[in-house]
Amino acid sequence: MSAAMIDGKAHAAALRAQVAAAGARFREELGRPAGLAVVLVGDDAASGVYVASKARATLEAGMESFTHRLPASATQAEVLELLASLNQNEAVDGILVQLPLPAQIDETAVIDAIHPDKDVDGFHVLNAGRLAIGQNGLVPCTPLGCLMLLRACRGSLAGLRAVVVGRSNIVGKPMARLLLAQDCTVTVAHSRTRDLQSVVHDADILVVAIGRPLSIPGAWIKPGATVIDVGINRIDDPTGSGKSRLVGDVDFDSAALVAGAITPVPGGVGPMTIAVLLRNTVVAARRRAG
Ligand code: GUN
Repeated sequence: MSAAMIDGKAHAAALRAQVAAAGARFREELGRPAGLAVVLVGDDAASGVYVASKARATLEAGMESFTHRLPASATQAEVLELLASLNQNEAVDGILVQLPLPAQIDETAVIDAIHPDKDVDGFHVLNAGRLAIGQNGLVPCTPLGCLMLLRACRGSLAGLRAVVVGRSNIVGKPMARLLLAQDCTVTVAHSRTRDLQSVVHDADILVVAIGRPLSIPGAWIKPGATVIDVGINRIDDPTGSGKSRLVGDVDFDSAALVAGAITPVPGGVGPMTIAVLLRNTVVAARRRAG
């Protein structure tokens, strides 16, 4: 292995310490802690685990945590009513609705019912628009965490060729906009891209977020490239042990032989997402306080 390992856990711990300090200053000056409300609709087990770990991290950072659980049978009107009350609640600075939502609920309508100044996920159409035109809004947590890792690893990104594989509203599109704002030359590749291998091979910076395990082999990667793997996929262990393991969208073992630096899975991008969520909550609290 020649690539340097990008230690997401260590970067996330440093960010969480900074956020806790900023949160403590906020509490001292404003006389109340910053508050994050998380809404979980239904009983998806994985979502339940994510929501519990967000609540724990919020409390550990010295902030106030509000968790609201609605049943899987909840109506759209009930979700919107809850969001209206959280929008009004002065103790709540950030609101996050855990996705995915049950089929009867219109995800876009729910996201856009969150007050944009409390939209710590950065998914509201106003915040997506602000990011697209370079205005200061709230930025989605995972791509912002990826950018922080890239800046820590490479310093200035100006002039570098960046390839983002994946075009979701949650990761791919905001990631491309953040890299463009850093003066990268950005290509967004996706499931319909022709000759993905040669597109990937052009990248000085490669960010992969497609949710398909081990899809990018090391042979495709430009020697010395910085590789950020957003994928977290559970697969059966190929040794036939009957166990499963977590892997990324990139084939780590072969990619680490050619890349200059690479994020592991787990322990790369994952820990940054929650740290940035806490950071966004303190940023939202500060902006709301004026
Ligand atoms: N589900 C999976 N990722 C996310 C995320 O970043 N935000 C929210 N709200 N739900 C998710």
